[in-house]
Amino acid sequence: MKIAVIGLGFVGLTLSSVLASKGITTVGIDLDKEKCSKIAKGTPTFFELDLKKTLKKALKKNLLITDKLSSINNCDFIFITVGTPQKKNGEIDLSFIKTVVRSVGKIILKNKKKPIVLIKSTVTPGTMKNVILPILEKNSKKKAGKDFGLISNPEFLQESKAIQDTIKPHVVVLGGYKTKFMKKTEKFFSRFNPNVPIIITNHQTAEMIKYANNSFLTTKISFINQIANICQAIPNTNIDDIAAAIGLDPRIGNMFLNAGPGYGGSCLSKDMNALINFSDNVGINPTLLNAVEKINQEQIQNIISLMEKTLGNLMNKQITILGTAFKPNTDDVRDSVSIALIKKLMKKKVKIVVYDPKAIKNTKNIFGEKIVYAKSVTDALDKSHCAIIMVYWKQFDSLNNNSIKYMNKKFIIDCRRVLAKKVLDAEYHAIGLGQKI
Ligand SMILES: NC(=O)c1ccc[n+]([C@@H]2O[C@H](COP(=O)([O-])OP(=O)(O)OC[C@H]3O[C@@H](n4cnc5c(N)ncnc54)[C@H](O)[C@@H]3O)[C@@H](O)[C@H]2O)c1
Repeated sequence: MKIAVIGLGFVGLTLSSVLASKGITTVGIDLDKEKCSKIAKGTPTFFELDLKKTLKKALKKNLLITDKLSSINNCDFIFITVGTPQKKNGEIDLSFIKTVVRSVGKIILKNKKKPIVLIKSTVTPGTMKNVILPILEKNSKKKAGKDFGLISNPEFLQESKAIQDTIKPHVVVLGGYKTKFMKKTEKFFSRFNPNVPIIITNHQTAEMIKYANNSFLTTKISFINQIANICQAIPNTNIDDIAAAIGLDPRIGNMFLNAGPGYGGSCLSKDMNALINFSDNVGINPTLLNAVEKINQEQIQNIISLMEKTLGNLMNKQITILGTAFKPNTDDVRDSVSIALIKKLMKKKVKIVVYDPKAIKNTKNIFGEKIVYAKSVTDALDKSHCAIIMVYWKQFDSLNNNSIKYMNKKFIIDCRRVLAKKVLDAEYHAIGLGQKI
C-alpha cells in the first residue's frame, strides 16, 4: 500500500510521519521547496511534542518528502491537508484546495490505479459536492465512486497533542457514498486507528460535524469565560472550583472549561467565522455563535480596561506579555489571543516586552523590531508597569516576589490563575477570581 499526503503543515506532516513510522509507504508533498528540504532532513517546521522523533523514525522507514505532486501516481490513498484560511469577511478561502484538486484530477486522468482521495482540510458543508467533486471529475475525465474514491475525512487533532491524536483520535468520520472505496477506507482506518469509533455518513454531514465540533468547543470556552467574569464581581469566588464541580457532571464534561483570555489558534476562530458566514448565507441567523464570538472579543477588551483602570493612559507604559503562543507546548502563534492583544496595545503606543519559551521566532515574524523580545521571564519583567500571564507555560509556576522585584509597578493580570495561591507583593488580578476579602 502507498499513501500520499498533500500539504505538510500541522495536519499533513503529523499524518505522514505517523503513517510512515508505522511502516506504511508514504509520500509527503508540499509546494514549499524550503519546507520540504528541512523536513527531509528530519527537522519539523514547527514545534510539536514527539514530532521530531516520529519524523526521524518515518524517514528511516518509508517516508519520502517531495514537492512533486506527480508522486501521487500509484498511491492507494491521497490525503489532502492543505490550508483553508479565512478571507477578510470571515468566509472560507478555498483557493488552495481548488488548486490542489485541479492538479490531482489531471494526474488521476493518466493513472491506471483507482485511488481514493480523502479531504482532511476543513471545508464548509456542500464544498465536496459543489466544488471539489466537479473539479476532480472535470480534470480527470473520470467518475467519482466508479473510477476513483472521494471521501470527506475531517481532522480533529489538537496541536500540542497532534501525534497522540493521530494515533488514537476520539473518532474517525468518513463522508461519502457507500461504495467499494468506502469499504476499503473503513478497513484501512480500522487497522490504522484500532478500537476508534468510525462514523460513516454523507459528505455534507461529515463536513458539518467538524464545524459542530469546533463551535461546541468555543461555546464552552465563552460560557466559562462569561461565568468567570461574573465571578470577578463576587468576592472570594473561584472559577477553577466551579469548573471542577460542573465538569464532574457527565452531561457537561471537564474539558474546555479553563477560563482565560479567550480562544485563539489557527482553527477555532477561523472555523467559527466560516460557520457564521455560512449560516448567514443560508438564511439562518447564528444568534448563539455570534454571542460566543462577541464574548471572545470582549475578553481582550476586558484585559485592556483593567489595565487602564489601574494605570490610566497606557501610552509609553511598559507592558509585559508572558506567552505569545496560542496555547502551551506549541510555537504556533496563528490567531493567538496574545498577538491580538499586542496589536491592540500597539495602537495605544504601549512599549511591549514579550517572553515565550517556544514562540519568539514566530512572534518576531509578525512584529519584527516593533516590540522587545526578552530572553527570560525576569528580563521581561524588568521596569514593567504590568505583567499579563496569557499562556500557562509550566515555568511560570516558579514566578515569585523575587521575579517581580524590578517591576516599575507591581501589577499582574493572571489570565491563567498560575499565581493564585501565592502571596505576592503586588496588585494581583486573575480572570475568574473574586477579589480576596
Ligand atoms: N492545525 C490544526 O490543529 C488543525 C486541526 C484540525 C483540522 N485542521 C484543518 O486542516 C487543514 C490544514 O491545516 P494546517 O494547520 O495543517 O495548515 P498549514 O497552513 O499549517 O499547512 C498547509 C500546508 O499546505 C501546503 N500547500 C498549500 N497549497 C499546496 C499545494 N497546492 N500543494 C502542496 N502543498 C500545498 C502549504 O505550503 C502548507 O505547508 C486546514 O483546513 C485546517 O483547518 C487543522
